[in-house]
Amino acid sequence: MDTKILTETVSKLIAKPKGILAIDESISTCDARFEKLGIPTTIEKRQEYRELLVTTPEIEKYVSGFITFDETIKQSTKNGTPFHQVLKEKGILVGIKVDQGLKDFPDSPIEKMTIGLEGLTERLKEYKNLGASFAKWREAITIGDGLPTEACLITNAQSLAKYAKLCQEENIVPMVEPEVLIDGKHSIEQCLEITAYNLDILFTELKKENVFIPGTILKTSMVLAGKDHFPQSQVGEVAEQTLKCLKEHVPLDIGGIVFLSGGQDDETSVLHLNAMHQTGELPWPLTFSYGRAIQNDTLVSFAKNPEDVTTAQTLLLKNAEKCSLASVGQYK
Ligand code: G3H
Repeated sequence: MDTKILTETVSKLIAKPKGILAIDESISTCDARFEKLGIPTTIEKRQEYRELLVTTPEIEKYVSGFITFDETIKQSTKNGTPFHQVLKEKGILVGIKVDQGLKDFPDSPIEKMTIGLEGLTERLKEYKNLGASFAKWREAITIGDGLPTEACLITNAQSLAKYAKLCQEENIVPMVEPEVLIDGKHSIEQCLEITAYNLDILFTELKKENVFIPGTILKTSMVLAGKDHFPQSQVGEVAEQTLKCLKEHVPLDIGGIVFLSGGQDDETSVLHLNAMHQTGELPWPLTFSYGRAIQNDTLVSFAKNPEDVTTAQTLLLKNAEKCSLASVGQYK
């Protein structure tokens, strides 16, 4: 492990006023989103859509890194330039989702555990040769009746810690993503309690594995009420509770913290990040790593008129710009 390489990669990723664009949907998730909008679910269409994203002019003004998926990192533009090369030429870092999805947690099958440790070192070496300098692994936590269970949280945190360690051995920055799902009727207080508890478990496991914390990025969900809770959380309340949680449960030497949008409304996810930055100086770099909140408009445009690449790319750029402004508290 070379700590200098890791911290340099982290610094590039969290450089202001930028954030990260997640285009790491698995084939099934991407196809489900395509299907909803009537886009054919073929490898050619996924390539066409992803080409549009990676070639968006000036996206590098707002985005420091793209998180890709196994299929995407190996794809090229129609004229044969590998996507990872297109990104590199723009000065954008290439990331890769390396977990292999979720399976039922044996002791509590409503819950999920993330898999993908088998053969991970070999895959990391392969992705590194394709230009990847950071990786992502996501766990998904459900809040519900008696959920999450401690056993499930510990199992997932142990996998995240093992993954992070393996990444750092290859000088790849691990992005650890303990996502608390927005689905459900839970209150913001419940979300705060579970998110905090899980962060404590996660950082305990990361320390046990001797993961180098300044060379690690935390990708987290915000603290907010479930999407079926009435009333929904207010912007100021989300900013306050999320920052409270992160300040109390994330080590100060973390490389950086980034948010997923997690099914929040596009505009709301921007307002939340903006409100956090308007509270003043924060103890760690804090920015976005959104997927849907940046891509939604572009995908709708692509579905309506796939030939009109300019409109689709303009929408992507506009949403990335909003997130960038929010990442320094200047979105109006
Ligand atoms: O794992 C989640 C993705 O990397 C971010 O996607 O912003 O649509 O939740 P999202």
